Amino acid sequence: TQSETGKLKRLYAQAGQLYHHILVNTKLGQPALDHLHERGLSDELIAEFQLGYAPQAEILQAFFHEKKLDDYQTLRKSGLFSEREGEDLAERFNDRIMFPIRDQTGSIIAFSGRLLTPDKKLPKYLNSPEGILFNKRKVLFNFDKAKKTIRHESKVYLFEGFMDVLAAWRAGIKNGVASMGTSLTSEQIYLLEQTASKLYICYDGDLPGRKATKRALELIAPLSKFDLGAILLPEKLDPDEYVRKYGPENFKDFVTSHERTELEFYLEYFRVGRNLETESDQLAYITDVLEKVAQVKDPLARDLTLNRLAKEFELDKNNLTSQLQALMQQVQ
Ligand code: UTP
Ligand code: MN
Ligand code: MN
Ligand code: MN
Ligand code: MN
Repeated sequence: TQSETGKLKRLYAQAGQLYHHILVNTKLGQPALDHLHERGLSDELIAEFQLGYAPQAEILQAFFHEKKLDDYQTLRKSGLFSEREGEDLAERFNDRIMFPIRDQTGSIIAFSGRLLTPDKKLPKYLNSPEGILFNKRKVLFNFDKAKKTIRHESKVYLFEGFMDVLAAWRAGIKNGVASMGTSLTSEQIYLLEQTASKLYICYDGDLPGRKATKRALELIAPLSKFDLGAILLPEKLDPDEYVRKYGPENFKDFVTSHERTELEFYLEYFRVGRNLETESDQLAYITDVLEKVAQVKDPLARDLTLNRLAKEFELDKNNLTSQLQALMQQVQ
């Protein structure tokens, strides 16, 4: 109900303020604040995104009591505590850097907490459970702040994670959002489609990131009218690591000069793990690429790719064209 969501939003807003206060003003938060400083985040950025810290201690219940927001049923259902009936309320987030996740209007609807001290037995990032406020499939991190610039430039960059969005923001890229992992959903695409005509995937440069880029392109292409592309980061870096290694300005330059079309991405992607000196790998590569070309709607883009293939492998373009035509008939 309306009042239930209202209550939960008030809880989340208050919790967000408390976690932020602990991070920036208390001894308890100092190690987490040092960690963020070491990763290049300024106090201004930390405040703008209201990053926080959930300490090892139990702090929320006393705090909510003081704020007169301590209705037991609401607390139990909030996802900020363990949800088992009859049990004492144990806090869900311990020793984690807290990233507020907001809806389109900017209200906090969930948190994601990153372990400050890495631990093999626990997930690096832990999210609030899904519930009446938070449906992970429909949320993009930073969409609330980014949508103005996304609209204005009619362009959006899609990153994997929180730290990547923040790194891009530092570099002046304010139209970046994160899918919070690599499993993009059709709901998220729909949200973006309402706001922009160009979408560039900028996932991590590692192999999982590249595979996820291909999956994302394959999901989006048949589903939307987006002018689609991808940015492939070098040396297996993610955006956050790139910014720390080469600086924010160089990241922005890299991104704006490496916006590749879908086909350019595939020309690169299908090289991975192949030895294009050998004839069998050449054939497999050309077949993979042509299958992708067959799905592309823009005839000019198709023609450019055929030219490239013909040139690189010293082939007769007419052969490639008839191959492609055969494939395109299969697709239809
Ligand atoms: P990554 O695994 O690429 O995170 O996950 P990262 O870049 O190493 O993280 P940092 O830089 O050390 O902080 C990318 C995103 O996937 C989601 C988070 O949204 C994260 O930002 N994720 C990752 C989870 O939800 N749970 C996890 O356990 C890990
Ligand atoms: Mn410091
Ligand atoms: Mn990753
Ligand atoms: Mn990463
Ligand atoms: Mn990272």
